[in-house]
Amino acid sequence: MTDEKILNLIGVSKSFFGAEVLHQINLDVQKGEILGLVGENGAGKSTLMNILGGILPPDSGTMELKGLPYLPSDPKDADRAGIAFIHQELSLFSNLTVAENMFIDELPTGVLWSVRFDRIRAEAAEYITKFGVNTSPDAKVETLSMGIRQTIEITKALIKNAEIIIFDEPTTSLSQTEKDNLFEIIAHLKKQGVTIIYISHILEDVFFLCDRIAVLRDGNLVGVNQKNSVIKNQVIKMMVGRDINQVYPTIQKNIGEIVYRVCDIQQGRSVRNVSFELRVGEIVGLFGLMGAGRTELVRCMFGVDPFDKGEIEFKGKQYRKLNPEICIENGIAFITEDRRQEGLLMPKSVKDNIVLANLNNLCQSFGMVSSQKEDQEADTVIKELNVKVQNKNRQAAKNLSGGNQQKVVIAKWLLKNPSIFIMDEPTRGVDVGAKYEIYTIINNMAKNGSSILFISSEMEELMGVCDRIMVMNKGRIVADIPKNDYSQEKIISYAIGGGN
Ligand SMILES: Nc1ncnc2c1ncn2[C@@H]1O[C@H](COP(=O)(O)OP(=O)(O)OP(=O)(O)O)[C@@H](O)[C@H]1O
Ligand SMILES: [Mg+2]
Repeated sequence: MTDEKILNLIGVSKSFFGAEVLHQINLDVQKGEILGLVGENGAGKSTLMNILGGILPPDSGTMELKGLPYLPSDPKDADRAGIAFIHQELSLFSNLTVAENMFIDELPTGVLWSVRFDRIRAEAAEYITKFGVNTSPDAKVETLSMGIRQTIEITKALIKNAEIIIFDEPTTSLSQTEKDNLFEIIAHLKKQGVTIIYISHILEDVFFLCDRIAVLRDGNLVGVNQKNSVIKNQVIKMMVGRDINQVYPTIQKNIGEIVYRVCDIQQGRSVRNVSFELRVGEIVGLFGLMGAGRTELVRCMFGVDPFDKGEIEFKGKQYRKLNPEICIENGIAFITEDRRQEGLLMPKSVKDNIVLANLNNLCQSFGMVSSQKEDQEADTVIKELNVKVQNKNRQAAKNLSGGNQQKVVIAKWLLKNPSIFIMDEPTRGVDVGAKYEIYTIINNMAKNGSSILFISSEMEELMGVCDRIMVMNKGRIVADIPKNDYSQEKIISYAIGGGN
């Protein structure tokens, strides 16, 4: 790292619906550094980067790039200035090939503007070899893992010779190996003098990677720390404005009779001879490495995908075939891992998204939806989950911050007061404070008699919240560990297939 300033923000402010979400931000970025950017959900991290990336204009303030005034009019402008943005939700076109995606912004054309597919394939192949991406130019993006998709995004940035690369929560959908690879790529980029801005809620990663850590709170830049001069708790305190002493809430509750049973379920090679039960008031963790079959299993449980063999039993009935409607009618809820694709209606308002799952309960005797009731319900949920929204009627779900989108997905189902709640990575992308809120809600639901199946890749979180943890490996449940028997070593050794 040199002392050379590559970027300087002076008094940058931004409001939405009359509410200021960035207030007079002054921030400089050194050439060749990795600058961490942290803050609670809705603190303004993505908005600030959207301004840098030419997606949004600032309301006031100025920016300088290498000492010259910088005000990109659109993302292409930012590209040309050497600033690339790897988004919180990746932006590749899943129905196009790797090669097409790599050159989508500037497709080379030949006679009569026909796209030179031969050329982009050949060039893509070169880059794939150069950057060691494990795929082929002709592979459709939808068939690729998140890690590979992300490497393609990074490759796109490098093709354009980006000097500053912004990563907005890049690891949320990556396996451990993919994450390790990403960190290696970032370290390599730094060596070559590329400047990195790295946004994440995983503070361990930020401390590991970054040279300095900038903290945003409620749209204010509350400090920029040299990595070695602060500890994690101080950064958390700066983020939330108070000490957080307790990470997991404790609650007294009773566990009752069996309410849900999975009997010998099989689906191809992904789910094999899986049997288990859920009891009233129980929070059951499901741990496994990426590819262990957790998501496939819960998709069968909610009738999203069919299973080949076995049955599922609830409310005194056995099912060999399921569909989501039957599940919902019987009080089963499912939060998917992919909130963008499946959890929300992105163009609809925040309020619509919250009340949609609950329309039946809101209907009055004439079959009309009461808008006053809708308002009340939405307000209660927004308050309970502390959803940060500027205007619930006018703001589209897609314009909520990433973590707040996740809260709305949870809110949507909460209103239905489900008796069985299947949650696939519910706290992914959610800040420390909001995690605590979500754990508290899960606990209260269990106390009131719901059963929760909680899938997470964060073992600590499962150990903090669950009454027992089931571990999956290669499609099978290989262990069912009660709370008084928890140890990280034990859980991981089952997950990697070693047993105990
Ligand atoms: N296009 C938009 N229209 C209206 N409000 C918006 C828009 N984009 C962002 N906001 C609001 O600005 C605030 C900051 O959002 P931003 O996405 O920058 O947060 P963030 O720090 O990235 O949070 P997260 O960690 O959840 O991703 C939020 O309250 C959000 O609702
Ligand atoms: Mg964000």
